[in-house]
Amino acid sequence: MTHSLYGRDLLKMNDVTQQEMADLLTIGLTLKGRLRRGVPHALLTGKTLAMMFFKPSTRTRGAFEVGMTQLGGHAMFLSSNDMQLSRGETIADTARVLERYVDVIMARVFAHSVLTEMADASRVPIINGLCDMHHPTQTIADLITVKEYFGGTRGVKMAYVGDGNNMVHSLLHAAPLAGMNIAVATPSHYAPDRLVVAEARALAEQNETELVITDDPYEAVANADVIYTDVWVSMGQTDVPERIHALEPYQVTDKLMSAARSNAKFMHCLPMHRGEEVTESVADGPQSIVFDQAENRLHAHKAVLAMLCSHEVEGML
Ligand code: CP
Ligand code: NVA
Repeated sequence: MTHSLYGRDLLKMNDVTQQEMADLLTIGLTLKGRLRRGVPHALLTGKTLAMMFFKPSTRTRGAFEVGMTQLGGHAMFLSSNDMQLSRGETIADTARVLERYVDVIMARVFAHSVLTEMADASRVPIINGLCDMHHPTQTIADLITVKEYFGGTRGVKMAYVGDGNNMVHSLLHAAPLAGMNIAVATPSHYAPDRLVVAEARALAEQNETELVITDDPYEAVANADVIYTDVWVSMGQTDVPERIHALEPYQVTDKLMSAARSNAKFMHCLPMHRGEEVTESVADGPQSIVFDQAENRLHAHKAVLAMLCSHEVEGML
Protein backbone atom coordinates (compact mmCIF):
# COMPACT_ATOMS: atom_id res chain seq x y z
CA MET A 1 0.00 0.00 0.00
CA THR A 2 1.23 3.51 -0.83
CA HIS A 3 1.71 5.67 2.25
CA SER A 4 -0.63 8.60 2.42
CA LEU A 5 1.68 11.55 1.62
CA TYR A 6 2.91 10.09 -1.68
CA GLY A 7 2.13 12.45 -4.60
CA ARG A 8 0.49 15.09 -2.38
CA ASP A 9 1.18 18.80 -1.94
CA LEU A 10 2.46 20.25 1.34
CA LEU A 11 1.14 23.80 1.51
CA LYS A 12 0.17 24.16 5.19
CA MET A 13 0.73 22.15 8.32
CA ASN A 14 -2.95 21.21 8.63
CA ASP A 15 -2.70 19.49 5.23
CA VAL A 16 -1.30 16.50 7.14
CA THR A 17 -2.91 14.17 9.67
CA GLN A 18 -1.62 13.38 13.13
CA GLN A 19 -0.19 10.08 11.82
CA GLU A 20 1.45 11.75 8.81
CA MET A 21 3.03 14.31 11.13
CA ALA A 22 4.42 11.51 13.30
CA ASP A 23 5.71 9.75 10.16
CA LEU A 24 7.47 12.91 8.94
CA LEU A 25 9.28 13.24 12.28
CA THR A 26 10.21 9.54 12.32
CA ILE A 27 11.55 9.61 8.76
CA GLY A 28 13.45 12.85 9.43
CA LEU A 29 15.19 11.34 12.45
CA THR A 30 15.82 8.04 10.64
CA LEU A 31 17.44 9.86 7.73
CA LYS A 32 19.47 11.97 10.17
CA GLY A 33 20.76 8.76 11.80
CA ARG A 34 21.61 7.24 8.41
CA LEU A 35 23.53 10.35 7.37
CA ARG A 36 25.45 10.39 10.66
CA ARG A 37 26.35 6.68 10.31
CA GLY A 38 27.30 7.07 6.66
CA VAL A 39 24.51 4.71 5.53
CA PRO A 40 23.48 5.46 1.93
CA HIS A 41 19.88 6.61 1.47
CA ALA A 42 19.54 7.49 -2.20
CA LEU A 43 15.76 7.32 -2.25
CA LEU A 44 15.34 9.84 -5.09
CA THR A 45 17.94 8.77 -7.65
CA GLY A 46 17.35 10.48 -10.98
CA LYS A 47 14.65 12.79 -9.59
CA THR A 48 14.73 16.59 -9.78
CA LEU A 49 13.37 19.26 -7.48
CA ALA A 50 12.65 22.76 -8.87
CA MET A 51 13.12 25.47 -6.21
CA MET A 52 11.45 28.77 -7.09
CA PHE A 53 12.23 31.80 -4.93
CA PHE A 54 10.37 35.12 -4.90
CA LYS A 55 12.08 36.03 -1.59
CA PRO A 56 15.62 35.58 -0.22
CA SER A 57 16.68 32.41 1.62
CA THR A 58 19.72 30.85 3.26
CA ARG A 59 18.41 27.77 5.11
CA THR A 60 15.50 26.75 2.92
CA ARG A 61 17.51 26.88 -0.27
CA GLY A 62 20.62 25.32 1.27
CA ALA A 63 18.83 22.51 3.07
CA PHE A 64 16.60 21.56 0.10
CA GLU A 65 19.52 21.60 -2.33
CA VAL A 66 21.86 19.58 -0.12
CA GLY A 67 19.02 17.28 0.93
CA MET A 68 18.20 16.47 -2.69
CA THR A 69 21.88 15.69 -3.39
CA GLN A 70 22.05 13.38 -0.38
CA LEU A 71 18.90 11.60 -1.60
CA GLY A 72 20.59 10.94 -4.95
CA GLY A 73 18.60 13.54 -6.89
CA HIS A 74 19.17 17.03 -8.21
CA ALA A 75 17.84 20.44 -7.17
CA MET A 76 17.42 23.31 -9.64
CA PHE A 77 17.46 26.84 -8.21
CA LEU A 78 15.18 29.32 -9.95
CA SER A 79 15.02 32.96 -8.91
CA SER A 80 11.72 34.54 -9.96
CA ASN A 81 13.66 37.62 -11.20
CA ASP A 82 15.50 35.49 -13.74
CA MET A 83 12.41 33.67 -15.00
CA GLN A 84 9.92 34.70 -17.68
CA LEU A 85 7.59 35.33 -14.73
CA SER A 86 9.38 38.67 -14.43
CA ARG A 87 8.18 39.45 -18.00
CA GLY A 88 4.57 38.51 -17.41
CA GLU A 89 4.38 34.71 -17.88
CA THR A 90 1.66 33.45 -15.56
CA ILE A 91 2.30 31.37 -12.47
CA ALA A 92 0.02 28.63 -13.81
CA ASP A 93 1.89 28.42 -17.12
CA THR A 94 5.18 28.36 -15.21
CA ALA A 95 3.95 25.41 -13.11
CA ARG A 96 2.59 23.64 -16.24
CA VAL A 97 6.04 23.86 -17.84
CA LEU A 98 8.11 22.93 -14.79
CA GLU A 99 6.00 19.86 -14.06
CA ARG A 100 7.00 18.52 -17.50
CA TYR A 101 10.65 18.50 -16.34
CA VAL A 102 10.75 17.82 -12.63
CA ASP A 103 9.31 15.44 -10.02
CA VAL A 104 8.54 17.99 -7.30
CA ILE A 105 8.44 21.79 -6.96
CA MET A 106 9.23 23.88 -3.88
CA ALA A 107 8.29 27.56 -3.99
CA ARG A 108 8.86 30.52 -1.64
CA VAL A 109 6.26 33.14 -2.44
CA PHE A 110 4.38 36.12 -1.05
CA ALA A 111 0.64 35.26 -1.31
CA HIS A 112 -0.48 31.74 -0.36
CA SER A 113 -2.81 31.82 -3.38
CA VAL A 114 0.26 31.59 -5.66
CA LEU A 115 0.91 28.14 -4.18
CA THR A 116 -2.68 26.96 -4.59
CA GLU A 117 -2.60 28.19 -8.19
CA MET A 118 0.58 26.21 -8.78
CA ALA A 119 -0.91 23.15 -7.10
CA ASP A 120 -4.00 23.36 -9.33
CA ALA A 121 -1.85 23.63 -12.46
CA SER A 122 0.74 20.96 -11.58
CA ARG A 123 0.53 17.18 -11.45
CA VAL A 124 3.73 16.97 -9.37
CA PRO A 125 3.73 17.83 -5.65
CA ILE A 126 4.12 21.47 -4.61
CA ILE A 127 5.92 22.25 -1.34
CA ASN A 128 5.48 25.57 0.45
CA GLY A 129 8.98 26.88 1.17
CA LEU A 130 7.38 29.84 3.04
CA CYS A 131 4.59 32.20 2.09
CA ASP A 132 3.16 35.21 3.93
CA MET A 133 0.80 32.89 5.87
CA HIS A 134 2.67 29.62 6.52
CA HIS A 135 6.12 28.04 6.90
CA PRO A 136 5.49 24.29 7.17
CA THR A 137 8.95 22.90 6.35
CA GLN A 138 10.47 25.01 9.15
CA THR A 139 7.86 23.68 11.53
CA ILE A 140 8.65 20.04 10.75
CA ALA A 141 12.31 20.77 11.54
CA ASP A 142 11.22 22.47 14.76
CA LEU A 143 9.20 19.48 15.91
CA ILE A 144 12.07 17.12 15.07
CA THR A 145 14.22 19.34 17.31
CA VAL A 146 11.64 19.24 20.12
CA LYS A 147 11.44 15.46 19.81
CA GLU A 148 15.23 15.18 20.10
CA TYR A 149 15.46 17.42 23.16
CA PHE A 150 12.39 16.21 25.04
CA GLY A 151 12.30 12.57 23.92
CA GLY A 152 8.94 13.14 22.18
CA THR A 153 6.46 15.89 21.40
CA ARG A 154 3.35 14.83 23.36
CA GLY A 155 2.78 17.02 26.41
CA VAL A 156 5.59 19.47 25.60
CA LYS A 157 4.50 23.09 26.01
CA MET A 158 5.67 25.68 23.49
CA ALA A 159 5.22 29.39 24.11
CA TYR A 160 5.46 31.60 21.03
CA VAL A 161 6.09 35.26 21.85
CA GLY A 162 6.19 38.04 19.26
CA ASP A 163 4.60 38.78 15.88
CA GLY A 164 1.52 36.78 14.82
CA ASN A 165 3.06 35.76 11.49
CA ASN A 166 3.56 32.83 9.08
CA MET A 167 5.77 31.02 11.61
CA VAL A 168 3.23 31.01 14.42
CA HIS A 169 0.48 29.97 12.01
CA SER A 170 2.36 26.80 11.11
CA LEU A 171 3.24 26.15 14.76
CA LEU A 172 -0.42 26.62 15.75
CA HIS A 173 -1.51 23.99 13.22
CA ALA A 174 1.34 21.61 14.00
CA ALA A 175 1.42 21.65 17.79
CA PRO A 176 -1.94 19.89 18.33
CA LEU A 177 -1.13 17.39 15.56
CA ALA A 178 2.03 16.49 17.48
CA GLY A 179 0.27 16.40 20.87
CA MET A 180 1.95 19.60 22.04
CA ASN A 181 0.41 22.39 24.07
CA ILE A 182 0.91 25.89 22.68
CA ALA A 183 0.48 29.37 24.12
CA VAL A 184 0.86 32.41 21.87
CA ALA A 185 1.48 35.96 23.12
CA THR A 186 1.30 38.81 20.60
CA PRO A 187 0.17 42.44 20.76
CA SER A 188 -3.53 42.46 19.84
CA HIS A 189 -2.80 44.44 16.66
CA TYR A 190 -0.35 41.74 15.48
CA ALA A 191 -2.36 38.68 16.56
CA PRO A 192 -2.36 35.47 14.50
CA ASP A 193 -4.94 35.04 11.74
CA ARG A 194 -8.41 34.27 13.12
CA LEU A 195 -9.14 31.44 10.70
CA VAL A 196 -5.82 29.74 11.54
CA VAL A 197 -6.57 30.10 15.25
CA ALA A 198 -10.04 28.59 14.74
CA GLU A 199 -8.54 25.66 12.78
CA ALA A 200 -5.90 25.16 15.44
CA ARG A 201 -8.52 25.23 18.20
CA ALA A 202 -10.47 22.49 16.43
CA LEU A 203 -7.29 20.40 16.09
CA ALA A 204 -6.44 21.00 19.75
CA GLU A 205 -9.91 19.82 20.78
CA GLN A 206 -9.64 16.67 18.64
CA ASN A 207 -6.16 15.88 19.95
CA GLU A 208 -6.84 16.92 23.55
CA THR A 209 -4.08 19.51 23.71
CA GLU A 210 -4.07 23.02 25.16
CA LEU A 211 -4.08 26.23 23.10
CA VAL A 212 -3.91 29.69 24.65
CA ILE A 213 -3.92 33.05 22.83
CA THR A 214 -3.02 36.06 24.96
CA ASP A 215 -1.33 39.44 24.80
CA ASP A 216 0.67 38.71 27.97
CA PRO A 217 4.11 37.14 27.33
CA TYR A 218 4.47 36.11 30.99
CA GLU A 219 1.15 34.26 30.91
CA ALA A 220 2.26 32.43 27.76
CA VAL A 221 5.65 31.30 29.07
CA ALA A 222 4.42 29.96 32.45
CA ASN A 223 5.48 26.27 32.61
CA ALA A 224 6.73 26.40 29.03
CA ASP A 225 9.35 23.90 27.87
CA VAL A 226 10.18 26.00 24.82
CA ILE A 227 10.07 29.72 24.14
CA TYR A 228 9.93 30.44 20.40
CA THR A 229 10.14 33.77 18.63
CA ASP A 230 10.61 35.11 15.11
CA VAL A 231 11.53 38.43 13.52
CA TRP A 232 9.25 41.38 14.11
CA VAL A 233 9.40 42.42 10.46
CA SER A 234 8.85 39.60 7.99
CA MET A 235 9.93 39.68 4.36
CA GLY A 236 7.67 42.03 2.41
CA GLN A 237 6.35 43.99 5.42
CA THR A 238 6.74 47.76 5.38
CA ASP A 239 5.13 49.09 8.59
CA VAL A 240 8.48 48.84 10.36
CA PRO A 241 8.45 51.58 13.07
CA GLU A 242 4.88 50.73 14.23
CA ARG A 243 5.73 47.04 14.48
CA ILE A 244 8.94 47.56 16.41
CA HIS A 245 7.20 49.89 18.83
CA ALA A 246 4.26 47.52 19.44
CA LEU A 247 6.48 44.44 19.78
CA GLU A 248 9.09 45.86 22.17
CA PRO A 249 7.40 44.36 25.29
CA TYR A 250 7.59 40.94 23.57
CA GLN A 251 11.38 40.73 23.36
CA VAL A 252 12.69 37.38 24.64
CA THR A 253 14.98 38.35 27.50
CA ASP A 254 16.73 36.46 30.31
CA LYS A 255 13.89 37.59 32.58
CA LEU A 256 11.27 36.06 30.27
CA MET A 257 13.32 32.85 29.91
CA SER A 258 13.52 32.55 33.70
CA ALA A 259 9.70 32.70 33.91
CA ALA A 260 9.49 29.44 31.92
CA ARG A 261 10.55 25.97 33.17
CA SER A 262 14.13 25.83 34.42
CA ASN A 263 15.20 23.52 31.57
CA ALA A 264 13.35 25.53 28.90
CA LYS A 265 14.90 25.90 25.47
CA PHE A 266 14.97 28.97 23.24
CA MET A 267 13.95 28.43 19.60
CA HIS A 268 13.96 30.71 16.55
CA CYS A 269 13.56 29.84 12.87
CA LEU A 270 16.36 32.28 11.95
CA PRO A 271 17.53 34.68 10.69
CA MET A 272 17.39 36.48 14.07
CA HIS A 273 17.91 40.10 14.98
CA ARG A 274 19.76 40.25 18.27
CA GLY A 275 18.54 43.27 20.23
CA GLU A 276 15.07 43.19 18.62
CA GLU A 277 12.95 40.04 19.14
CA VAL A 278 15.64 38.41 21.32
CA THR A 279 18.51 39.67 23.44
CA GLU A 280 22.04 38.60 22.55
CA SER A 281 22.35 36.83 25.91
CA VAL A 282 19.39 34.52 25.15
CA ALA A 283 20.20 34.07 21.45
CA ASP A 284 23.73 32.93 22.20
CA GLY A 285 23.08 31.55 25.70
CA PRO A 286 23.04 27.97 27.00
CA GLN A 287 19.29 27.51 26.48
CA SER A 288 19.40 28.40 22.79
CA ILE A 289 18.99 25.50 20.35
CA VAL A 290 18.56 27.61 17.22
CA PHE A 291 21.38 26.01 15.23
CA ASP A 292 20.04 22.52 15.94
CA GLN A 293 16.77 23.72 14.42
CA ALA A 294 18.66 25.06 11.41
CA GLU A 295 20.48 21.73 11.00
CA ASN A 296 17.20 19.85 11.24
CA ARG A 297 15.87 21.73 8.21
CA LEU A 298 18.07 19.38 6.19
CA HIS A 299 16.60 16.24 7.75
CA ALA A 300 13.04 17.61 7.68
CA HIS A 301 13.29 18.54 3.99
CA LYS A 302 14.64 15.10 3.17
CA ALA A 303 11.70 13.53 5.00
CA VAL A 304 9.23 15.72 3.08
CA LEU A 305 10.87 14.98 -0.29
CA ALA A 306 11.10 11.26 0.43
CA MET A 307 7.50 10.99 1.60
CA LEU A 308 6.07 13.02 -1.30
CA CYS A 309 8.21 11.41 -4.01
CA SER A 310 9.33 7.90 -3.01
CA HIS A 311 7.56 4.58 -2.44
CA GLU A 312 10.72 3.20 -0.81
CA VAL A 313 10.23 5.31 2.29
CA GLU A 314 7.45 2.97 3.45
CA GLY A 315 10.00 0.39 4.56
CA MET A 316 11.48 2.97 6.93
CA LEU A 317 8.27 3.65 8.84
N1 CP B 1 14.20 29.86 8.51
C1 CP B 1 14.26 30.06 7.17
O1 CP B 1 13.34 29.75 6.40
O2 CP B 1 15.44 30.58 6.75
P1 CP B 1 15.74 31.14 5.28
O3 CP B 1 14.90 32.36 5.08
O4 CP B 1 17.22 31.44 5.32
O5 CP B 1 15.41 30.07 4.28
N1 NVA C 1 8.55 35.38 9.45
C1 NVA C 1 9.78 35.40 8.69
C2 NVA C 1 10.37 34.03 8.60
C3 NVA C 1 11.70 33.96 7.90
C4 NVA C 1 12.22 32.57 7.79
C5 NVA C 1 9.53 35.99 7.31
O1 NVA C 1 8.51 35.64 6.70
O2 NVA C 1 10.33 36.80 6.85
